[in-house]
Amino acid sequence: MEILKAENITKTYRANDVVVRAVDHISFTAEPGDLSVILGKSGSGKSTLLHVLGGIEKPDSGEVFINGKALYRLKEAERARVRSEYVGFVFQNFNLIDELTVLENIRLPSDIRGNRYDLSFEERILSVLEMTPRLDFYPAQLSGGERQRAAIARALLMKPQIVLADEPTGNLDSQTGRQFMQLVERSNRELGQTFVIVTHDHAWVEIAKNVYAISDGHLGEHHE
Ligand SMILES: Nc1ncnc2c1ncn2[C@@H]1O[C@H](COP(=O)(O)OP(=O)(O)OP(=O)(O)O)[C@@H](O)[C@H]1O
Ligand SMILES: [Mg+2]
Repeated sequence: MEILKAENITKTYRANDVVVRAVDHISFTAEPGDLSVILGKSGSGKSTLLHVLGGIEKPDSGEVFINGKALYRLKEAERARVRSEYVGFVFQNFNLIDELTVLENIRLPSDIRGNRYDLSFEERILSVLEMTPRLDFYPAQLSGGERQRAAIARALLMKPQIVLADEPTGNLDSQTGRQFMQLVERSNRELGQTFVIVTHDHAWVEIAKNVYAISDGHLGEHHE
């Protein structure tokens, strides 16, 4: 059975008398172990789609199912619980907590759930992401790329079944970006995690199992 499924979702914003249909009747399915990449240019609806898929933003219509549970039929608290059980989210703007150090930020989702994390796995992701020397820094003391890598480490530490990542290489140089792609490929292979990456970075196509294109809120096939 599919682990993530969106049925006919639409999300419209109204601001200053302008109506933007950021997500326009999108359906999407991911099976366990899928590595899906959704390519689209700025303003095409990538972040909006990912937020709706991750239970963060309620669509105007349509429904999202995680492991068969209809997210938006749930109450807010229950939806948050399903999200924290299944989803690691890498936000485009990182969403790190300013008052917490890098290490505290990274461990926050597991601390909230009272879960134990795999310390050797933590060491491995921190070393691949080259964050080990910055663990006691606060977000304000980090470069943009370091913040991005901290946000990535936070999403991965719990080994969530689904990882949703919003432009995760946007602030990384190509070498660091490539290292992260290898980490994604390996996690996908070894842990069977399902990844959905939204990006304008075509380098992701190489490791993707499914490639889609989003444009003006419409999701379609990607053509090289
Ligand atoms: N809160 C909001 N209020 C009004 N319009 C919004 C809001 N959020 C997004 N939009 C509009 O919806 C469209 C899609 O935005 P979205 O952030 O999903 O694009 P994106 O593909 O992630 O772009 P980028 O690559 O620049 O991050 C944009 O035209 C944007 O102006
Ligand atoms: Mg975006």
